[in-house]
Amino acid sequence: MTTVNLMKPNDFPVNAVAVVQGASRGIGLALVEALSTDPRFATIVACCRTPSAAVDLNGLAKQADGKVRVRAVDVTCEDSVRALGEFLDEAGLAPSLVLNVSGLLHDGVQLQPEKRLEDLKLAQLERVFAVNALGPALVLRELLPRMARTDKAVFAALSARVGSISDNRLGGWYAYRASKAALNQLMRTAAIEARRRFKNVALAALHPGTTDTGLSRPFQANVPEGKLFSPAFVAERLLAVIEQVQIDDSGQFFAWNGERIDW
Ligand SMILES: NC(=O)c1ccc[n+]([C@@H]2O[C@H](COP(=O)([O-])OP(=O)(O)OC[C@H]3O[C@@H](n4cnc5c(N)ncnc54)[C@H](OP(=O)(O)O)[C@@H]3O)[C@@H](O)[C@H]2O)c1
Repeated sequence: MTTVNLMKPNDFPVNAVAVVQGASRGIGLALVEALSTDPRFATIVACCRTPSAAVDLNGLAKQADGKVRVRAVDVTCEDSVRALGEFLDEAGLAPSLVLNVSGLLHDGVQLQPEKRLEDLKLAQLERVFAVNALGPALVLRELLPRMARTDKAVFAALSARVGSISDNRLGGWYAYRASKAALNQLMRTAAIEARRRFKNVALAALHPGTTDTGLSRPFQANVPEGKLFSPAFVAERLLAVIEQVQIDDSGQFFAWNGERIDW
């Protein structure tokens, strides 16, 4: 088992800018909350589909006194992701940290993870892929070239261990698994390009562990005692992993505890 080296020093610059895409609730909201108390970060651009409905995020932004700037972004809409890039240019913001968090497993109504082949539906596959893989590809396209070019920078995407092909022993959850595997491949491919073009940016796919959010809620019954994490704990752990990720680690898949996950 390879783990990210947790002894390396942190080297984000002061007055750093972070972008958290998928910040309305769950892990994304907890990441914004944790970053808002980190004195090195001067600005956190917190993106969500419908800012007017993101009550908790708006409350956090109010408390953070201008440090958290809420932006509307729907990753399934190309113009919306492009507009985020344009906003960063206009505001003169070059992120040292980009966290692509949004993800879709179920919608609590019709969209549910598939148990068997007969459950596969084209519209469901398309919707899950749009949020989990295609949208993040657009975010990579728009934000990676806009990241700060000096000091360390990290672009991390929230993936899931179930997206690991070699780790797949249970089957099921076709759309979610396959879309996270596609996300992993996109991150790996962009990391190879970044080695040539954006040499200070490390890319990482991250597995948060099973976290108590709306995404996991219907599937929590069989989670062993002590293995269901709070969003705040996960945010703290993921930021600790990100802190230690260096250029040599770029293009890898890490769990919340720093353990490397095979593709
Ligand atoms: N929770 C877990 O146990 C677990 C385990 C492994 C991996 N993950 C991954 O961790 C990430 C965060 O999960 P979570 O548990 O925090 O999920 P969550 O509480 O369900 O939050 C999902 C987030 O994704 C956003 N989102 C959905 N569709 C979007 C779209 N089209 N455009 C922009 N944002 C969109 C949601 O925004 P709205 O409010 O606008 O819907 C929300 O902020 C996901 O990528 C998930 O796959 C979670």
